[in-house]
Amino acid sequence: MSNATLVDVKDMVVRFPIRTGRGRSFITPVDRVSFTIDSGEVLALVGESGSGKTTIGKALLRIEEPSAGTIQVGNRDVTHIKGQALVRYRNDVQMIFQDPFGSLNPVKTIEQHLFFPLKKHQGLRGTELYDRTGELLERVGLTPVPETRIKYPHELSGGQRQRVAIARALAVNPKFLVADEPISMLDVSIRAGVLKLMNELKRDMNLSFLYITHDLASARYFGDRIMVLYGGHVMETAESSDLLRRPMHPYTKLLLAATPGNPVRQPLPETSNQAPDLLEGRKGCVFATRCPLVTDLCRNEKPPLQSLDAGHAVACHYAV
Ligand SMILES: Nc1ncnc2c1ncn2[C@@H]1O[C@H](COP(=O)(O)OP(=O)(O)OP(=O)(O)O)[C@@H](O)[C@H]1O
Ligand SMILES: [Mg+2]
Repeated sequence: MSNATLVDVKDMVVRFPIRTGRGRSFITPVDRVSFTIDSGEVLALVGESGSGKTTIGKALLRIEEPSAGTIQVGNRDVTHIKGQALVRYRNDVQMIFQDPFGSLNPVKTIEQHLFFPLKKHQGLRGTELYDRTGELLERVGLTPVPETRIKYPHELSGGQRQRVAIARALAVNPKFLVADEPISMLDVSIRAGVLKLMNELKRDMNLSFLYITHDLASARYFGDRIMVLYGGHVMETAESSDLLRRPMHPYTKLLLAATPGNPVRQPLPETSNQAPDLLEGRKGCVFATRCPLVTDLCRNEKPPLQSLDAGHAVACHYAV
């Protein structure tokens, strides 16, 4: 682990019990996923619905329990911490959710949303508490501050509410944020403003992000690196500009072909919409049922994630 590495996840597995005709078995929506995030770096996690993005974010925060693998943050192994250590860890790592309204309390004013973490985690009182609340609101662009303080969530727009959620996450001085589709429920016209704010926080506060999104365009804007996920497996990972210029995995190519203004001229034909099989113990490549290039090798052998060159890795038997 290099000095700059803040988050180091190795071979993480999350499994959930499900009922089948033959009794109980498991699905593995996150299957041996590994990645690192440096201080001040944004890793964008891209994949379609059900690919395991939120589950990875939650497992990182230990909201879901990984059943295998390790999670190291800073220089600490946090995979199995409990009690007070877990409470302290959750201060260092905060999560911003898709629905900013759902995460705010309708009967509390905006400043009350910030008072709680500032009192509880920072021990602030009186004028210190008041001033810090003002600084945070200013920092996320919720001005004029005196007016914003006393508003209720329903008096704000979706974008403003998401800014409150971001301010609240910042209140505990985190090093690392998981932002789970933070702009997907916002009006298109205000998405760019919220992304720009997160980009400023990254730059000015050296914050790291796991940025979860469906959308390769925002992943390229905000992500230093992109990791493409399908059926709980990493398909491809590379620096953002490299991934968009030289996609190697057939799934990345399909995703890119569906992105407006995409640079891939000849998209692959889509062969089926079949959802990936997440049942534990399946064999072969998880993308085989949808891949236009599928062969028997793919149906029988899972391709390893192989590093091709500087920071570009792909899990495909036929990647070029
Ligand atoms: N608590 C749970 N119990 C059982 N299955 C679950 C649970 N949480 C998630 N899953 C399943 O795990 C898979 C991955 O879900 P996840 O929410 O991580 O996907 P996602 O990539 O975030 O999708 P979306 O883009 O729709 O948010 C899905 O098949 C989902 O149904
Ligand atoms: Mg999700």
